[in-house]
Amino acid sequence: MALTKFTKIQSGGGGGEEVIEDDKISQQSTELILSLPREKGWRTPYVYLFQGFWCQPHEIQAIITFQKHFQAKDSDVLVATVPKSGTTWLKALTFATVSRHNFSSFNKNHPLLNFNPHDLVPFFEYTVYDKHDKVPDLSNMHEPRLFGTHVPFASLSKSIKESNCKVIYICRNPFDTFISSWFFANKIKPGSLPTLALDEAFEMYCKGVVGFGPFWTHMLGYWKESIEKPNKVLFLMYEDLKGDINFHLKRVAEFLGCPFTLEEENRGVIENIIKLCSFQKMKELEVNKSGTFGRNFENKFLFRKGEIGDWVNYLSPSMAQKLTKVMEDKLGGSGLTFRMNS
Ligand code: A3P
Repeated sequence: MALTKFTKIQSGGGGGEEVIEDDKISQQSTELILSLPREKGWRTPYVYLFQGFWCQPHEIQAIITFQKHFQAKDSDVLVATVPKSGTTWLKALTFATVSRHNFSSFNKNHPLLNFNPHDLVPFFEYTVYDKHDKVPDLSNMHEPRLFGTHVPFASLSKSIKESNCKVIYICRNPFDTFISSWFFANKIKPGSLPTLALDEAFEMYCKGVVGFGPFWTHMLGYWKESIEKPNKVLFLMYEDLKGDINFHLKRVAEFLGCPFTLEEENRGVIENIIKLCSFQKMKELEVNKSGTFGRNFENKFLFRKGEIGDWVNYLSPSMAQKLTKVMEDKLGGSGLTFRMNS
């Protein structure tokens, strides 16, 4: 059975009607989803607590398919991120770096000039496994295969953890991530849902109720893995990339086993990739002004300000104090610290 958009289902437990806002959720997934704890969503009626993180029905279904079917190859590269932490940027940088011998960044027809990074580095949960009745054949994909995901480390497929594939992770200071998420949710939410107020979203965020959150569990999962297996997981922060992109891009290339040569450096290859993937350059491309990605989200909403510290324009001192306390409680002692201002 396929459910149509915003299908209402009678729940068995006397809890009234459940609403699943999707058009292609299998009966089996629907039953599972309806058994999960739920909270009001940011841009959907509800989000559900699945394997310890919050997500939407269609994401849960895709993640189940991904966990069951994805077979990692040692040469795979996975760009894993907290939503709104620089996913688009890191995907662009990774694609440009890994594929530079096939597509020179000096090329006037470089794929990044005509495609959004999410088209070039597809998400498992939004693109690769988005069909509930079809498992894609990925065996013929050009290698190294590049994928993206917001799935927490603990819920990645077994073969990713067991193979020698590489994971590059990025997160961002939670203050800016929150503001970026709030703007994005209100831009892409269906017109039928009311605008999500800043203070309501803030309370949800502090409770951990945000897509793929709690954010602290997400960060700690990859952080611990990056410490235990530094050759497996490279842990990056948005603020560090903004501070010295040249240094961090070289780290990425080395981590992926394709370091830039001195000759490339002298030829300006690194600087050119940085320019190609820069906020200004990407924001002004036609594909990113008028194109769409995933479930018809407009690419232009992926490029807002791209700054560190924009949160000061939105959060009150008491909100800042509260989020600081959440971070101290949840991340204190982990060694994770963030740059909050530019
Ligand atoms: P803001 O909303 O603070 O502007 P994601 O790609 O994970 O969805 O993250 C989106 C955030 O990254 C947005 O932050 C967006 O403006 C910023 N961003 C997008 N492309 C970028 C780029 N090339 N360089 C730096 N920041 C970028």
